[in-house]
Amino acid sequence: MRAKVSIIGAGNTGATTAHWLAELAIADLVLIDIVEGLAQGKALDLQQAMPVLGRDIKIRGGTEYELTAGSDVIVITAGLPRKPGMSRDDLLAANAEIVRQAALNTLRYSPEAIYIVLTNPLDVMTYLVMKVTGLAPHRVFGQAGILDSTRMATFVAEELGVSVENVHCYVLGGHGDEMVPLTAISNVAGVPLNQILPQEKLEAIVERTRKGGGEIVSLLKVGSAYYAPGIAVAKMVEAVLRDRHLIAPVSAYLRGEYGLHDLYFGVPAQLGRSGVEKVIEYPLTESEKEALKRSAASVAENIAKLKF
Ligand code: APR
Repeated sequence: MRAKVSIIGAGNTGATTAHWLAELAIADLVLIDIVEGLAQGKALDLQQAMPVLGRDIKIRGGTEYELTAGSDVIVITAGLPRKPGMSRDDLLAANAEIVRQAALNTLRYSPEAIYIVLTNPLDVMTYLVMKVTGLAPHRVFGQAGILDSTRMATFVAEELGVSVENVHCYVLGGHGDEMVPLTAISNVAGVPLNQILPQEKLEAIVERTRKGGGEIVSLLKVGSAYYAPGIAVAKMVEAVLRDRHLIAPVSAYLRGEYGLHDLYFGVPAQLGRSGVEKVIEYPLTESEKEALKRSAASVAENIAKLKF
């Protein structure tokens, strides 16, 4: 039997995630949105693209959570996107209520599912999903690090004029302007970035990576990024469904790793069929450790604002 993935929120990121997943053809897909007709219309359109690709998956959409029954993976993208000038944290109160409902409504129909969260503020919303569902933390995680890392890799490949395939970037920390792009562990064909790029170029890339989401928000004027966030989620879904044991930067629950407790935070983690199999601890420089601490403090501050 084919796997089933339900995506809650059929807006830009939800629909684009469905698009990338449909190309992979690894699961039947369900799109749910609060707006009447939106998820149904997008699902129908995407379904009608499948004969061109020769894919036999089923894609359904609607407003009713019954459609999601028996999902292997639930992706939560429902919520409000950022407007120019807004930080991800500004979305906290509005999105908390939307995400709480999405988590509880899906859990009723898919008690065995793995949850992947995309709604911002990401680390806080992922924590909320774990708390309100009561699921074991390894079954709930958030997408941020693959996106931040692919943004950084894009800038590095452009700067050096090398194939993106040679560039391996790792961005850890909270998904906010305090995120921590690693410059010694990130590498180009095995050579650390800080040995290839002059300091000022490296700093400029780090800064552009941190503000990468905001750059797109200001260009679009309405809404935020969705192609790269969508493929990043699709990659995580694939790692789970294919039990790949893929190590990727993920917002995962920490119990002492990196000296941090009881929060969701961007760290390298191994993903497989059961969710987060383990958190990997990288050797970090003192300044990276300090930067992670600052980023963690800002995530913890926002988690403290949540009401359960
Ligand atoms: N239940 C289901 N869907 C909902 C609900 C709800 N209670 N509330 C809002 N939605 C839907 C909206 O109708 C909309 O179609 O969520 C969708 C969000 O889509 P967009 O507005 O296009 O936003 P998007 O770019 O997808 O971003 C969603 O992901 O990356 C983050 O920061 C981003 O938090 C934002 C979220």
